Amino acid sequence: MTKDIVSEIIDDHKIIRNLAQRYENENNTDERQKIANTVIREIAVHSACEEINLYPAFERHFTNGKEIADHSREEHLQVKKDLYKLDSMKVTDNGYHELFGKMLKELVHHIDEEESDFLPKFKETISQNELESLGASFAKTRVTAPTHPHPSAPDKPPAESLAGMTALPLDKTRDAVRDFVDTGRDKL
Ligand SMILES: [Fe+2]
Ligand SMILES: [Fe+2]
Repeated sequence: MTKDIVSEIIDDHKIIRNLAQRYENENNTDERQKIANTVIREIAVHSACEEINLYPAFERHFTNGKEIADHSREEHLQVKKDLYKLDSMKVTDNGYHELFGKMLKELVHHIDEEESDFLPKFKETISQNELESLGASFAKTRVTAPTHPHPSAPDKPPAESLAGMTALPLDKTRDAVRDFVDTGRDKL
């Protein structure tokens, strides 16, 4: 069944919020590392999916779309910079937990803003058909999006899509030696 783009995004947000909660509650270091690896992957993929599918659609459909899209890309960039540092650290490293908390605070501010402001307005502005066709593209991008943060890569299509495809094989190689937890996506 095709989900509309807003449902796809809300699903991702739920998964990310849930993983963040699990990270906070977990005391076992190995398990915490697996959860952190999964958070990094889920945010990297989600950001790329929005930058490729949602923000260009904001620009097409909102009169102040460019302003909203640029503001959103800027917030993504800040999160990506922190994720990039976290990605090369271990959960047991000095400063990891503090940086993770900072990144999460920025991210929660960003996803709260999307859920309470931009997404409801977007849903009112465009047709159900288009919401569904964007949802299908969003789900498709999830398969080819880079799984690690690349803060210096382009954040607009088509350059971002191409850069993502180039980065993906290396990202997948890095993932092959990492452990992850189940995101629970199939239960949503
Ligand atoms: Fe976003
Ligand atoms: Fe989002």
